[in-house]
Amino acid sequence: MEELEGKVAVITGAASGIGRSLALAFAREGTHVSLADIEADPLSETAEAAREIGVNVHASITDVRDPEAVEALAESTVSRLGALHVACNNAGVSGGGNTWEIPPETWDWIIGVNLFGVINGVRSFTPRIISSGEGHIVNTASMAGLTSPPFMSPYNVSKHAVVTLSESLSVELSLQHPEIGVTVLCPGWVRTRIHEAHRNSPDAVVGPSEGDDEMGLADIARLLIEGGLDPDDVAAMVIDAVKNRESWILTHDDWTEMVTERTRRIVAGEPPSVGQIPT
Ligand SMILES: NC(=O)c1ccc[n+]([C@@H]2O[C@H](COP(=O)([O-])OP(=O)(O)OC[C@H]3O[C@@H](n4cnc5c(N)ncnc54)[C@H](O)[C@@H]3O)[C@@H](O)[C@H]2O)c1
Repeated sequence: MEELEGKVAVITGAASGIGRSLALAFAREGTHVSLADIEADPLSETAEAAREIGVNVHASITDVRDPEAVEALAESTVSRLGALHVACNNAGVSGGGNTWEIPPETWDWIIGVNLFGVINGVRSFTPRIISSGEGHIVNTASMAGLTSPPFMSPYNVSKHAVVTLSESLSVELSLQHPEIGVTVLCPGWVRTRIHEAHRNSPDAVVGPSEGDDEMGLADIARLLIEGGLDPDDVAAMVIDAVKNRESWILTHDDWTEMVTERTRRIVAGEPPSVGQIPT
């Protein structure tokens, strides 16, 4: 989609971090934006910032885990903004620990937001994009969708699933609706609030400060995230990928070797390496 001006984009997880930067980057392209999140005040703030840029904005509190809520978001986007061309399935949360100690509630929550959020988005947004005649779907995965860092299994599982879902979707659309492109966004560390994801978790999910964290994993994650890329730079990569129909965004060039090394180990029958959290 070379021309974004006057088109309509829906962005989930738009209140913070990469989603907020995407909302404002699309607005600067002249794209009308439908913004969804579960955090009301920051969502209103992002919506206001997008309106000030001069585009039409629809903001709605939407829990991406809920298929009916995502369907209502798709419906209201088209009724308020007239069409739907671009979907950024971006909302995400993180959490982890030793794989055998992670409670079922944590698995439910992370898989629910990171994987079912994307599934729900693809189910509800794709038919509307097809009806609009052209478009693009951007699914936010992670480098954790291409490698398997320790102590973050639910996150890795969800992001691997988003990668494979997106690959299948891309081929299906290329065969039946070639006017629609698909990009998988695989960021390395980005300076956002992802390390504070428990601010949005259901009550039953134990946060890092309440659970055992003898290795200080929460502090390590915070330091790595705070030293990460500016989310505005990631949003600029997404705009380029949509315009140029690029399938993959790996935000950190120096991390791609990890993917090659992981594949080499699989083919060579070697055990997984501990060196999968780049600092
Ligand atoms: N920051 C990084 O280093 C990094 C790296 C790789 C991938 N990612 C991915 O980028 C995406 C955006 O995360 P971010 O880093 O900007 O974090 P962030 O915490 O700043 O933003 C995530 C947004 O998602 C929203 N959200 C959480 N649960 C939701 C739900 N159930 N329904 C709707 N919205 C919900 C949050 O309220 C928040 O506004 C996520 O998918 C994340 O996994 C981030």
